[in-house]
This record gives sequence, C-alpha cells and structure tokens, in this order.
Amino acid sequence: MRIVVLVSGTGSNLQSVIDAVADGTMENVQIAAVGADKHGTFGVERSAAAGIETFVVNFKDYAARADWNHALTQKCLSYEPDFVVSSGFMRIVGEEFINAFDGTYINTHPALLPSFPGAHGVRDAMAYGVKVTGCTVHIADAGVDTGPILRQEAVVIEDDDTEDSLHERIKVVERRLLIATLADLAAK
Ligand code: GRF
Repeated sequence: MRIVVLVSGTGSNLQSVIDAVADGTMENVQIAAVGADKHGTFGVERSAAAGIETFVVNFKDYAARADWNHALTQKCLSYEPDFVVSSGFMRIVGEEFINAFDGTYINTHPALLPSFPGAHGVRDAMAYGVKVTGCTVHIADAGVDTGPILRQEAVVIEDDDTEDSLHERIKVVERRLLIATLADLAAK
C-alpha cells in the first residue's frame, strides 16, 4: 500500500509512521513521498534524512488558493498513492484534491470529533473545560475535520495540564491509532 504523507510542522506523528515501516510493524506500507505546504519543515527534513522522497508545494508561491490546490493535487497524484495521509498538515485542501482522493484522504485530529474541530482542537477543549478529550483518525471530506470516523480514543485532561503537555499525551495515542489504521488498510 503506497501512501503520501502531508505535513506542515515537526512531523513527530510522521516519524512514528516512518519508524513503523522501518521496524516491520506496518508491513506492506510504503511511504512514496512526504510533502509540505511550506519550506523548512522538520517533517520534510526528517523524511529526507530517512531517505524518503520529499516535495514542497509552497502555499505562498501561488497567487490563488485554487492554483496551489491544483499543484498539490497533481503532485500527490504523480506518486499514485493508495492513500494520502494528513499528519499535522494545516491547510484545508479544495474540492479538486478531495475529488482526486475521495475516500482515501486520511486525517488525524487531536480532539474527539465532531467536538473541537479546526487548528486549535487541544486549546479549545481545555478552554471549554471538558475533562476528557482525545484524538480521531478519519477520512477527510470537503469540510474542516469532517468525514467518516475510523478510530478514536479518549485522553483525560489532568488539572496541571498545559496545552503542550496535553497535546504531547494526545499525540502518543494519535500515533498508535494512525499506525493501527494504516496497518489495517494495508492488510485488506
Ligand atoms: C497532531 O496532533 C495533528 O493531529 C495536529 O497537529 C499535530 C501534528 O504534530 N493537526 P506533528 O507535526 O506530527 O508533531
């Protein structure tokens, strides 16, 4: 099963996928490429260090979002992936991308969707005062963090949590759920 992984930041969740492929936890999964929406992400850097092909479709290079979306779609299609995985990719893709990868665009989100969608799911959950949050692995559709849910797991918010400490604990679960999801899909 060939995947393209999209990142915008540190790519620590991506690293867990790279490690799982390398140590055999995820047989039959090949990371065809790792891409980002901007230059200088550690996610791309660590992928290149692992010998994985990387690309950047730099959002700021395009006058219109539709042009960026088209370029990203074409670039991802060029790898002929079975799935595209958003792992900390912080751009909302457009209809052309969603149509090209209909049902095969997987996203992870650090909250129990449909609660707390968007770029600050961890912060929003803490601000609301929920006692339990978590993470979600889902098939992304044209909405923001919407689409069929594949896996979820709860994470208790501790009284002394900061956004960072909670997010790091959520990521530990997120990585496990993402790897389990990809392993299942590769076994089909
Ligand atoms: C993850 O929690 C992901 O769900 C969210 O951003 C975080 C990415 O972390 N969108 P990293 O870049 O994999 O370290």
